[in-house]
Amino acid sequence: MAVERVLSGMRPTGSLHLGHYHGVLKNWVRMQHEHECLFFVADWHALTTHYDTPEIIEENVWEMVIDWLAAGVDPAQATIFIQSRVPEHAELHTLLSMITPLGWLERVPTYKDQQEKISHKDLATYGFLGYPLLQSADILIYKATQVPVGEDQIPHIEFTREIARRFNHIYGRELGYQEKAEAAIKKLGSKRGTLYEELRDRYQEQGDDEALEAARAMIEEQQGLSLGDKERLLGYLEGGGKMILVEPDHKLTPASKMPGLDGQKMSKSYNNTISLREDPDQISKKIKTMPTDPARIRRTDPGDPDKCPVWQLHEVYSEDATKQWVQNGCRNASIGCIECKAPVIEGVLQELKPIQERAAQYAEDPMMIKNVVAEGCERARKMARETMREVRDAMGLGYSA
Ligand code: TRP
Ligand code: SF4
Repeated sequence: MAVERVLSGMRPTGSLHLGHYHGVLKNWVRMQHEHECLFFVADWHALTTHYDTPEIIEENVWEMVIDWLAAGVDPAQATIFIQSRVPEHAELHTLLSMITPLGWLERVPTYKDQQEKISHKDLATYGFLGYPLLQSADILIYKATQVPVGEDQIPHIEFTREIARRFNHIYGRELGYQEKAEAAIKKLGSKRGTLYEELRDRYQEQGDDEALEAARAMIEEQQGLSLGDKERLLGYLEGGGKMILVEPDHKLTPASKMPGLDGQKMSKSYNNTISLREDPDQISKKIKTMPTDPARIRRTDPGDPDKCPVWQLHEVYSEDATKQWVQNGCRNASIGCIECKAPVIEGVLQELKPIQERAAQYAEDPMMIKNVVAEGCERARKMARETMREVRDAMGLGYSA
């Protein structure tokens, strides 16, 4: 297996919270040691839904990079950049749009789902319909092999694979490929040439693998064919030519176990978050006022941790001994809820302390952040330019001034 190249992006629509940390960032930090990684701020994607609040995007782009670095994403290991600073993404998006059937876009489940969910906003826009295609351009322009994403994004990766396949099918062949292949068939002589065509049809129309094998064997044995013709005939058997764009695999990020303050998944839209740079006093207050098992009205009422969102936080933050203490103490009412919450508060604050310290340092040094991003953009752009050269050539735009 060739080297993996990992790419992922995040939309700068708000400050990052513990759900992002446990669900996404820790995963990125781990992957950056294992593979070549590119992580980018998807500011154009943010505009597809936040087109009328550009100030939100402007504010969050840099804050998000600070959060990434504070969480441990390392610019010495991963390339960190901003989508709109690599305008080649837009060029690839335009070129891919030429071969993208409208029906494919309309069928992507997030298209209708999000329109219904964000019903207060008009999302019947060209940009929003094209969201998955822009994402495909993000991925394909780096020939990424792995894309770590949450479950909701899997249809976008599947869509990207289909776009890559379609592109390679249409353009992945040299100019005059068909003619050259036909000329090579003639060189086989009429009997073998006819057999070749029969076998090719059987493979392409009925998926007959034996026919493919037989045809391959015939080409291999054939004397007097040039190497170029041999390769042409082998490639032509399977219908395709060169592979220009690479079909990526999705890498499902294990669903974040990070519960929000109300026991639902932590998410800005549920208003149940603790953000990475939230003030420690504020965090304590939030946890102290979290709901608990409603059966525990008085301190002497026994409770059930399974009905309490605080227990879910213990699952993330506490050692076995503490968890045992909660289980017993709650069920026989030997501990109170305030007591029970103390180790959770401690756990969250301890986890966030180094992150907040690093974030404070970065926030004081905006030049350093800008430099990290400028370097990342430069590196990303170099890769993007190379792919664009191939794509333009394949699409008949190879002329240079
Ligand atoms: N759509 C992704 C999300 O909302 C963000 C994104 C944009 C992305 N381009 C990408 C993720 C490319 C992975 C790869 O989470
Ligand atoms: Fe929840 Fe702990 Fe109170 Fe039990 S004791 S209800 S687990 S906060």
